[in-house]
Amino acid sequence: MLNIKYEEVIGGRFRRLRKNKEIRDLVKETSIDISSLVYPLFIKEGIRGREEIKSMKGIYRLSIEESLEEIEKARKLGIKSFLLFGIPAKKDEKGSEAYSKNGIIQNALRRIRENISKDVLLITDVCLCQYTSHGHCGIVKNGYVVNEETLELLSAIAVTHAEAGADIVAPSAMMDNQVLAIRTALDKAGYSDVSIMSYSAKFASVFYAPFREAAYSAPAFGDRKTYQMDFRNPREALREIERDIEEGADIVMVKPALAYLDIISLARRNFNHPIAAYNVSGEYAMIKLGAELGLWDEKQAVNEVMTAIKRAGADIIISYHALEYAKWKREGEI
Ligand code: PBG
Repeated sequence: MLNIKYEEVIGGRFRRLRKNKEIRDLVKETSIDISSLVYPLFIKEGIRGREEIKSMKGIYRLSIEESLEEIEKARKLGIKSFLLFGIPAKKDEKGSEAYSKNGIIQNALRRIRENISKDVLLITDVCLCQYTSHGHCGIVKNGYVVNEETLELLSAIAVTHAEAGADIVAPSAMMDNQVLAIRTALDKAGYSDVSIMSYSAKFASVFYAPFREAAYSAPAFGDRKTYQMDFRNPREALREIERDIEEGADIVMVKPALAYLDIISLARRNFNHPIAAYNVSGEYAMIKLGAELGLWDEKQAVNEVMTAIKRAGADIIISYHALEYAKWKREGEI
């Protein structure tokens, strides 16, 4: 036996504070409040009930009526914020259903506002890809997504969402100056109290694939690399965030979350605005599929990744796991 008094030499044992659950809970450095979660919903025009999404077990395309039930269910578990995605019945070149006063999201917003008590925040995705026949996030000319004309449409979408009752609009098209265009349009239309949560550092990621199946929004040609960010560029991500803040973003977002925890952490250290992280469809699908294969316990896996996103520095977590996570927390299972 060595006669070394480790505590005298290097001071203290880490394992003392890991002895039981109570002491681990006492010294935890990170925790997640359910009210900082955002639950995304897909609302589809012209359906009854809900439709399964093959690549995203547990997530559905909802009719407007069904979305009311889902919101109510989540609200009872303490979730206050919802990110709404519309799936229109018709698409065209200019995505006109996205900024129609009777578009799916505009109709859904009004219904939700009439039916659900005031204590929910409705956030809307402001983009064109689900609404355009070519599946790109803007107007296409000669095979290229043009910036300025797209800004006009994004602004029109944001104003119609505000009119219909959105609290926060979330531009996700990655057009340059989209925040400035939308802020200006909202102010001009009298919606200066509507906030902007900007998808500031949104990377061109393969992990959006299940979302594109869910929303039928895969581009018909090419990819999104001429507008979404190159995942090799952390400094550019900071410049994007900085620019969005200058243009008037109230909340900035990093997306995806899990393969981009370094970006969340950098953003946290460089800016004082609220930071949202989007735990995207592919990240959700990985956890679900792994659990289905018996590779890991789903609850523990979800808890670990949600905590990691929070620990990296996100104030707000947008996640398809939100509802189940809130339920497990309520039931004391995690
Ligand atoms: C719309 C949009 C997308 C996502 C959020 N908003 C798809 C895309 O950019 O192709 C992806 C979200 C997810 O994968 O969960 N532009």
